[in-house]
Amino acid sequence: MTAAIEVQGLVKHFGDVRAVNGVDLEVPAGTVLGLLGPNGAGKTTMIRMLATLVPPDAGRAWVAGHEISERPDLVRESMGLTGQYSMVDIDISGRENLYLFARLLDLPRRAAWARVDELLERLELTRVAGRLVSTYSGGLRRRLDLAASLLGRPKVLYLDEPTTGLDPHSRNGLWDIARELVAQGTTVLLTTQYMTEAEELADHVAVMDDGAVVANGPIAELCAKVGGTVLRVRPAPSVPPNAVASAFTDAGLGMVRTDEKTGLVSLTISHDDQLTRAVRTLGETGLPLVSVDTHTPGLDEVFLALTGRTPNTETRRKAGEESDGTFADRPAHHDPGQVDD
Ligand SMILES: Nc1ncnc2c1ncn2[C@@H]1O[C@H](COP(=O)(O)OP(=O)(O)OP(=O)(O)O)[C@@H](O)[C@H]1O
Ligand SMILES: [Mg+2]
Repeated sequence: MTAAIEVQGLVKHFGDVRAVNGVDLEVPAGTVLGLLGPNGAGKTTMIRMLATLVPPDAGRAWVAGHEISERPDLVRESMGLTGQYSMVDIDISGRENLYLFARLLDLPRRAAWARVDELLERLELTRVAGRLVSTYSGGLRRRLDLAASLLGRPKVLYLDEPTTGLDPHSRNGLWDIARELVAQGTTVLLTTQYMTEAEELADHVAVMDDGAVVANGPIAELCAKVGGTVLRVRPAPSVPPNAVASAFTDAGLGMVRTDEKTGLVSLTISHDDQLTRAVRTLGETGLPLVSVDTHTPGLDEVFLALTGRTPNTETRRKAGEESDGTFADRPAHHDPGQVDD
């Protein structure tokens, strides 16, 4: 088998919540699959099943050739996980954390310290290794998480929103390390809210919504499939972008998105006549505009077209926090097995 991860009909329900509802996936060895989807789509639940942290209700999956329910021990030996919620103990140093994880992997003392120091060096953590983790910045914490997941030299690495909340410099650093690992043959399953991250790292993407994979393929292929054009309108500063957006919606032009930060209103056009109608609608409103242009869809628009929601950009979400309104609300949960960072 050349797939490093193979998933067939995986299902996980939590009461009435169908977190994962029959997912098939295949990740060829040495590649990166970007698993995308709005909050609550089931991405973390997928990863938790593939990491043998929660048992599936139905379906089968193989990680590095081992079935997750039959040989969870061998699956655990083959994989590493950098979770959405940090696993490290903040009351001891980074170096001590890694040592404890190494010992849990049954590495003998000397080998454990050697591996720890090698990874501290590699992730540029040596300078801060002796400090309590409670004094680390978010970027340092993420790097420590990643170091911990690499201790066992995993063939398969799960990165669940590895760079959420990181500054661009730390994000780039983490991407470099991920690329290096992939170049050495590691297979990566990455979930992310950042479309650029998927574009940077992933060979293929799978888009999940409501527990199901709604699209799967190379990024260029998905963009071509969504096809069409995106019309972008920048209204004059005196005009609330929502006025333009509602004019489009009222005219029955469906896929409208307003970027609150930039004030741009985007409309996905799938037929030529929609473009004509959109331009006519703009004329009829008489609203003053700064610019109008069209561009070819990127992963952002693919995500919107498939899920009806805009991908999250910079918001850091925590369990129990109010929705920022850009995503449809899903039942909030707080998994007792997950520790907030
Ligand atoms: N332990 C649990 N108990 C109850 N419900 C859960 C549990 N874990 C997940 N869920 C629910 O399952 C659904 C999928 O959650 P999951 O964490 O997999 O989504 P996600 O795609 O990772 O979302 P996010 O982008 O917010 O991380 C959600 O509705 C969530 O509330
Ligand atoms: Mg998640």
